[in-house]
Amino acid sequence: RMLAPRATPLAGRHVLVTAGPTHEPIDPVRYIANRSSGRQGFAIAGALADLGATVTLVAGPVTLATPAGVRRVDVVTAAEMAAAVQDALPADAAVMVAAVADWRVAAAPQKVKKGDAPPALVLAENEDILATLAHGPRRPRLMIGFAAETERVVEQAVAKRLRKNADWIVANDVSGDVFGGDANTVHLATADGVEHWERLPKADVARRLAQRIAETLSGS
Ligand code: CTP
Ligand code: CA
Repeated sequence: RMLAPRATPLAGRHVLVTAGPTHEPIDPVRYIANRSSGRQGFAIAGALADLGATVTLVAGPVTLATPAGVRRVDVVTAAEMAAAVQDALPADAAVMVAAVADWRVAAAPQKVKKGDAPPALVLAENEDILATLAHGPRRPRLMIGFAAETERVVEQAVAKRLRKNADWIVANDVSGDVFGGDANTVHLATADGVEHWERLPKADVARRLAQRIAETLSGS
């Protein structure tokens, strides 16, 4: 039986993907984090590899198998994720799906004991990995961010696209049951406007986005 030739429109392209949460330690046994299963980002990394891309997946702490054909770099904190992203450059495109913790904690070197008054958390803002890359000299040609919002989803996505110098923002409404779930309803904000995608399994969102990335990288 003849096999159909595999379509590899992203052959020779390097695409960087971040996924999952980051964990910011409070002390050696505790942390703060964003809610994220990593499933959408891992699906995107896999879909890009399926189209022939060389994929570097910088993953926060998640319990997911590495998609076939993907090079995975595991990190814990936002600072480690920022460093791993720099180490992975250059890239033709970057898809920043990670739910990066906006703040780190001035961590205690030893485990804090609960007998005393509850400790105050002193927070410092983490570097915005997407904005730094998108405004910097090593900017990948196509920069894609995600935005998880609970209200004014499209309006905030459009503002984030401009503020972060991203080409596209994939916005999803997380007021429902997206986290850890199998489906996602996304809105794609580009320079041309906003597309409203129907509710789709995360694997289908990933395939459609990977296809769009392939079209965009080959169309110039
Ligand atoms: N992002 C990042 N580094 C950060 C924070 C966010 O790279 N320190 C990226 C995310 O991976 C995502 C995009 O920026 O692609 C949007 O993240 P989001 O949390 O929605 O935006 P913020 O600018 O942090 O705004 P806020 O959380 O206040 O809505
Ligand atoms: Ca944030």
